[in-house]
Amino acid sequence: MTSRILTCAAWPYANGPRHIGHVSGFAVPADVFSRYQRMAGNDVLMVSGTDEHGTAIQVKADAEGLTARETADKYHQVIVEDLQGLGLSYDLYTRTTTLNHRAVVQELFSALHRNGYVVAEKQMGALSPSTGRTLADRYIEGTCPHCGFDGARGDQCDNCGRQLDAIDLINPRSRINGEVPDFVETEHFFLDLPALAEALQEWLQTRDDWRPNVIRFSREFAKELKPRAVTRDLDWGVPIPVAGWADADMKRIYVWFDAVTGYLSASIEWARRVGRPEDWRLWWQDDAARSYYFMGKDNITFHTVIWPGMLIGANGAGSRGGEPSAFGVLDLPTEIVSSEFLTMSGSKLASSRGHVIYVGDFLREFGPDALRYYIAVAGPENQDTDFTWDEFVRRVNFELANEWGNLVNRSVSMAHKNVGAIPAASALTEADRALLAASAGAFETVGGLLERARFKQAITEAMRVVSLANKYLSDEEPWKKKDDPARRDTILHVALQAVSDCNALLTPFMPHAAQKVFEALGGEGVWAAQPRIVTVSEEGAPDYPVLMGDYASEQARWASTPIAVGTPLAKPTPIFAKLDEALGATGPAWAPVA
Ligand code: MF3
Ligand code: ZN
Repeated sequence: MTSRILTCAAWPYANGPRHIGHVSGFAVPADVFSRYQRMAGNDVLMVSGTDEHGTAIQVKADAEGLTARETADKYHQVIVEDLQGLGLSYDLYTRTTTLNHRAVVQELFSALHRNGYVVAEKQMGALSPSTGRTLADRYIEGTCPHCGFDGARGDQCDNCGRQLDAIDLINPRSRINGEVPDFVETEHFFLDLPALAEALQEWLQTRDDWRPNVIRFSREFAKELKPRAVTRDLDWGVPIPVAGWADADMKRIYVWFDAVTGYLSASIEWARRVGRPEDWRLWWQDDAARSYYFMGKDNITFHTVIWPGMLIGANGAGSRGGEPSAFGVLDLPTEIVSSEFLTMSGSKLASSRGHVIYVGDFLREFGPDALRYYIAVAGPENQDTDFTWDEFVRRVNFELANEWGNLVNRSVSMAHKNVGAIPAASALTEADRALLAASAGAFETVGGLLERARFKQAITEAMRVVSLANKYLSDEEPWKKKDDPARRDTILHVALQAVSDCNALLTPFMPHAAQKVFEALGGEGVWAAQPRIVTVSEEGAPDYPVLMGDYASEQARWASTPIAVGTPLAKPTPIFAKLDEALGATGPAWAPVA
């Protein structure tokens, strides 16, 4: 039975190019999952876009001498190219500066306001005297009032671990330009999380099959919910749709409120762009549809508590009741899948410290599938995990080139040389049957693991079948069967069937290589579809690039498909080139070991 699957990948900030740590959290896992679900026959909608508002983008713009809009344009373009290069199969990858997004965010905000879950309150806030903008707590540093540590931040002290309020710091100063912040009374809207807490906790109790790190963290967090400011003193963001606030120069909706709403606005934009404007509802208003959200761990609470809280309030389903927003009642997430951090030499990747490997650089040198493979097999799925060039080179050379590439290459080469086509099998031996059973049976095991977002186990299991097939060839030695061509052809047939099965099993992880292997087996047309960069327009606003794709027409299926005897085979070209081992010690010149 076909299920509808909504894949929500976290929205990358437009404050610079993305590094391999970013894409190991939100992008590659989301794509592997979506590709698998499509192959399994489900109806997938995968959405995301660039997160363009807020302080992070404004700070970058100031540093580069650009306007916030110019900065957003610049990095949206770069990020779109990187994500396309990685082969991420978004149905729509858009951005948050569209008029559509603004309207959807404003309606959600208004519904929460009408229902009484968003309320105005006065508070003391830190402003930058030179810009008049909110200085977020994490951009303020000073001396910790508890332990005297001088590098404490306005949100917490990294020395004693205590949570702080910026106003309590001794000698507070801006981390952006060193100036002393003004603490002034300012009015903001707050999301009344206490009024949503009961419904949230009830819902979280029903989520018992999430990754343990995610559910534990979220249930703890949901125990002590305080109202949370959802507006900022800033001029770069979505205007507040409340009388008296809409025209205020320095009041905008908080970037996280705006960004998480992107999942909904992007779904609506997608439906409009494919000419079926109501179809987004099939993924948002149907109990049978499932939604999966992918991100790095620093995004967890926004997805497990804030976004579901916003949905509950906008649905009119918190303790204050209320009416559903103009969208109608919207479904809460099925599962939040979060990764830990990719580190280098033990510390988190950070562009600000130059401790970073950018996606674009990586793609130019190594192509997409080596990185996708590495992230799946050795990425930070369940714990912080170090990226090393040594491990990267070893895995590419021994696993991709020697194991998988070599299996494809030698079985297709032998069949090409001896038969020129996919050979027929005659009577099968025990060993033949065992390999065919293993590769056909793997669809269920690997599929079950992918269904549960267990990527590392899934790819390990798929690669185990590759090893079995290699061992089969070594044991059966078809190259020594010159005087028994019928047996030789049977062995080659069985090996090629295993190659075809393994290729399907590996397609969600390595769709570019999978297309090549498909062609090496004599296949024609699109096996694994890729996203395209399309320039789209919106009435009353500038054109912009997005990613879209025609994934429904791809041939990839999550099943063992019998190979067709007699299909002509050409001499294969290697699928994976081996890397110079010296690279393992130092990394390439553009990204030396830090
Ligand atoms: N831009 C945020 C980050 O890079 C993620 C936003 S995810 C969203 O950490 F859900 F809010 F969109
Ligand atoms: Zn301290």
